[in-house]
Amino acid sequence: MKVIDLGAGNSVLNTYMAELRDKNYQQSRALFRRNLTRIGQVMAYELSRTLTYSEKSVETPLATKRVSTYDDHIVIGTVLRAGLAFHEGFLSVFDRADNGFVAAYREEGSAENMKIHLDYMAAPDLSDSTLILVDPMLATGGSIELAYQAFLQAGTPSTLHLCVAIAAPEGIAHLQAAFPSDNVTLWTAAIDERLNEQAYIVPGLGDAGDLSFGEKL
Ligand code: PRP
Ligand code: URA
Repeated sequence: MKVIDLGAGNSVLNTYMAELRDKNYQQSRALFRRNLTRIGQVMAYELSRTLTYSEKSVETPLATKRVSTYDDHIVIGTVLRAGLAFHEGFLSVFDRADNGFVAAYREEGSAENMKIHLDYMAAPDLSDSTLILVDPMLATGGSIELAYQAFLQAGTPSTLHLCVAIAAPEGIAHLQAAFPSDNVTLWTAAIDERLNEQAYIVPGLGDAGDLSFGEKL
């Protein structure tokens, strides 16, 4: 698996990330979701450079212009609930993409015995697709790996992009072992220090699902 850390260089992406993490900005759920959406848009744009392109003719009112556009069948796979605002960013860039959804949530626990529940999956045919699997938080790596396993019921994509806003080193190591192939890329906007005892990312941002939509029981 290749790892691309878009936050390693200077860009406006890090301004969105700073707001996303800041507990004062987090008072506004609307702004939190908006920043996740903007981070998704930037990541989608960067990812678009890696797609397969071919030239086509476009008829303008005046003449014909040859333009390179991508040919990939893109499916955006999203892990509910925290993935929703992030998904919106990707879908606004790849506006003709098909979409799949998986619902997953972690039971409270430590990184070693974290139980992940997965109870809903809906996806188009993924055979030969470019699957962009989006979830803002990569902590232990269990949720995104389980989500991918669930999506495989709908076919095997030819290319897999795993997209997160913040990755913990533990989650990256987990995915390196689960996806040894070079055909898989992990895109992240930041790599943080570690997981705490409750398997939250430190410094991280807190609970992305709760900050987007409110606390769950
Ligand atoms: C968050 C996040 C990921 C998961 C990451 O979801 O959206 O899906 O945690 O953790 P992992 O890498 O250890 O699996 P959460 O379980 O908090 O559910 P929510 O989106 O409903 O809040
Ligand atoms: N899920 C979150 O929302 N935050 C973390 O730090 C880890 C998992």
